[in-house]
Amino acid sequence: MSETAKVAREAVPPAAEDMSAPFTIGTEAYISREYARAEREKLWRKVWQQVGRIEEIPEVGDYLTYDILDDSIIVVRTAPDAIRAHYNVCSHRGRKLIDTPPGAKRARGKGKHFVCGFHGWTYNLQGQCTHITDRGLWEDTLTEERTRLGEVKVDTWGGWIWINMDPQCEPLRQYLEPAATMLDPFELGNMRCRWRRWIIFECNWKVALEAFCETYHVASTHPEFMKFGDFRGWARAQGKHGNIGYDAPKGLDENQAKLRLGSGSDPRVSTAEMQVYTWEQVNTNTTQTLVDASKRLVKELPEGTAADKVLRHWLDSARRDDAARGVIWPTVDPKHVGQSGTSWQIFPNFQIGHALNNSLCYSARPYGYDPDKCIFEAAVYELYPKGQEPQTEWEYLAADDPRWGTVLPQDFSNMAAVQQGMKNGGFRGTLPNPYRERNIANFHRNLARYMGTAAPGKLK
Ligand code: FES
Ligand SMILES: [Fe+2]
Repeated sequence: MSETAKVAREAVPPAAEDMSAPFTIGTEAYISREYARAEREKLWRKVWQQVGRIEEIPEVGDYLTYDILDDSIIVVRTAPDAIRAHYNVCSHRGRKLIDTPPGAKRARGKGKHFVCGFHGWTYNLQGQCTHITDRGLWEDTLTEERTRLGEVKVDTWGGWIWINMDPQCEPLRQYLEPAATMLDPFELGNMRCRWRRWIIFECNWKVALEAFCETYHVASTHPEFMKFGDFRGWARAQGKHGNIGYDAPKGLDENQAKLRLGSGSDPRVSTAEMQVYTWEQVNTNTTQTLVDASKRLVKELPEGTAADKVLRHWLDSARRDDAARGVIWPTVDPKHVGQSGTSWQIFPNFQIGHALNNSLCYSARPYGYDPDKCIFEAAVYELYPKGQEPQTEWEYLAADDPRWGTVLPQDFSNMAAVQQGMKNGGFRGTLPNPYRERNIANFHRNLARYMGTAAPGKLK
């Protein structure tokens, strides 16, 4: 941190909910090579990480791999109701057991066992070594304990598969609270991917995630959205995690604010305009059903209908339209919807932007030990009629690919510029908005607990 910073480093308040004071965060966590190296031991080998969806491995023998820095993990379905995770390395001489296909982010396949390509040692789905050529030459030393694949903790929540490399880790459910309880009513496990893309950014993984976890940037980065409404967003510290949402404008409850109902002189028109724009330019946060229902508002409601009535009519008719094709939205108390906000930041690197019939999720992780590079993923989910779920796979999409639309590239344009700016000798550390970016300060407080350095400092 720069000497010129008028900052006193002091103990960060213990209460998770209290991160309302102004904080500053030094640049170490974003740009230091030593810090990036230390993340492997101190962070990534200790935390629960989301590695894929349960529906990606529906049948016994289906597997996928997940790589994080030097570690690679195989997640495999071993029984109709059981999933296991193994380190992706052969016990013989250390060859990676399952290779990642060139240009892909991971491997995905199906098999009865895993055969190492080097000398043919073979493992069953449970990770036991079942074949070793010349086994007798080792005398009786090749015990199951010595030869089986290393075990990794695995569990599921929200439709996702999560792994943890720390044998002493706390249970997933406990780790995820209070996010798990707040998000359970949205039944995210029933949603399926509409699209999922990944990209490599020239910035630290924290810079990438932090570009998507606050609403403070919307007015400047996405000015075209301001004509649809100017809802101020909040951010809260939620223990290890955080969440954000929109403040309710006068006359609207929090639930309505969450949906950023189009404002303007005629909410029927602006709601439809915002839906169409979002659908066409971002293809996130909404569905065809919601868009179609919004387009009918002008026909179905008289001029002058109040904003709250427009919202109710729109959502009710979209819910009905979906029900008619077998897509049942969960029923969630509007108060709970409001409190849950628009998205949750799950420590350390996953964000769930939840809604009743769709969600938008981001994750980011380091690309090797280069602090200036990361792998970023975006995935959009929605509820589908049974049997009509699309089959998708991760697709690499360069930042200038038109399929990203016009809105997300506006966010992308900040990534490398922030990373570069953080290294500028004149930069004195970040100044997150104490109300609208509080989750960022909270994230760094939690991160510092794992890393033992770079805690946010209170601004004086
Ligand atoms: S390294 Fe796998 S069989 Fe030799
Ligand atoms: Fe954005």
